[in-house]
Amino acid sequence: MAKNIKIIGIGSYLPEKVLTNADMEKMVDTTDEWITERTGIKERRIARKDQASSDLGLEAAKKALKNASLDPKELDLILVATITPDMFFPSTACTIQDKLGASNAAALDISAACSGFLYGLVLCDSLIRQGQYKNILLIASETLSKITDWEDRSSCVLLGDGAAALVITASDSEKEGILASSLGAIGSAGKLLYLPGGGSRNPATEETVKNRMHYLKMQGNELFKIAVKSLVDSAKDVMKKAKVKPEDIDLFIPHQANLRIINATATRIGIPSEKVFVNVNKYGNTSAATIPVALDEALQAGRIKKGDLILLDAFGGGLTWGAILLRW
Ligand code: ACO
Repeated sequence: MAKNIKIIGIGSYLPEKVLTNADMEKMVDTTDEWITERTGIKERRIARKDQASSDLGLEAAKKALKNASLDPKELDLILVATITPDMFFPSTACTIQDKLGASNAAALDISAACSGFLYGLVLCDSLIRQGQYKNILLIASETLSKITDWEDRSSCVLLGDGAAALVITASDSEKEGILASSLGAIGSAGKLLYLPGGGSRNPATEETVKNRMHYLKMQGNELFKIAVKSLVDSAKDVMKKAKVKPEDIDLFIPHQANLRIINATATRIGIPSEKVFVNVNKYGNTSAATIPVALDEALQAGRIKKGDLILLDAFGGGLTWGAILLRW
């Protein structure tokens, strides 16, 4: 059985269309100054009308497979973390399996909102180490613009679209892979961030459309407090499990929801700003995709080298949270 997992390929895809804060000023009652000060976001990417999450995920997956030099037929499993699937079923993972020609792979979506990528990475780790699968394609893909209420200034300025994918395989090395992980959920706080319409609770009717129930609803203020606490608690939990101190961490990649949340979390954990990866200014919150997109950009920027210790940390709708300590 494999001792560990190894990430052998990574790729990301961000839609070409850029929506700046100046553009947002023309859409809702807001200002570049307010958005920048409160969130750190300057612009976000928006998928085309004809692009669904599987289209974004497919582009990222192709890059990751090329990067890994792996034939799609060698994949045993495809996992897609998303809260904006193309449709309830077939899963977005099945759609991508077909488009890739990955005919030997099982396929399944993960619904854990912004923590979905970390939930997926923990699943990959245990499935591979148990010997169940050898090669897994883990994708995070979101088109939040499709469930955004473009009349609600308190949420629409925060969200964006994007995707990233990782090819993960079995490794016998004890020097790389996941050192510790921590996942959790606070179901009782689910109503702080949710999509009320379209499911079996409130199937689509004229009424649900009129009441704007097919858009994401968010209580930003309350979420902010829980976000910082859960990000700090889960980071401390994995550091304790792996007997690691904040100064041992080479790069901190937190979920990119809001610069103030990122800074407050890093300060409380004790990680200096030069070790914190930030790209929320360019893409806003792309839910499950923020961490793998950031990981890809950090690698391309030369901010990760062999043997580095990376702390991944997320929270999101559900509410869900998770942290992973990864040795590169
Ligand atoms: N432009 C101008 N004013 C605004 C805007 C805007 N875009 N949005 C809200 N305001 C106003 C409010 O109406 C309020 O006005 P009032 O005082 O007259 O009532 C004022 O600004 C302050 O509002 P707050 O909500 O208190 O502002 P806050 O400093 O908390 O910032 C924010 C709001 C940015 C939403 C923040 O709370 C936040 O980031 N929360 C976390 C949200 C989050 O991370 N959500 C994603 C979770 S992940 C996922 O799964 C998608």
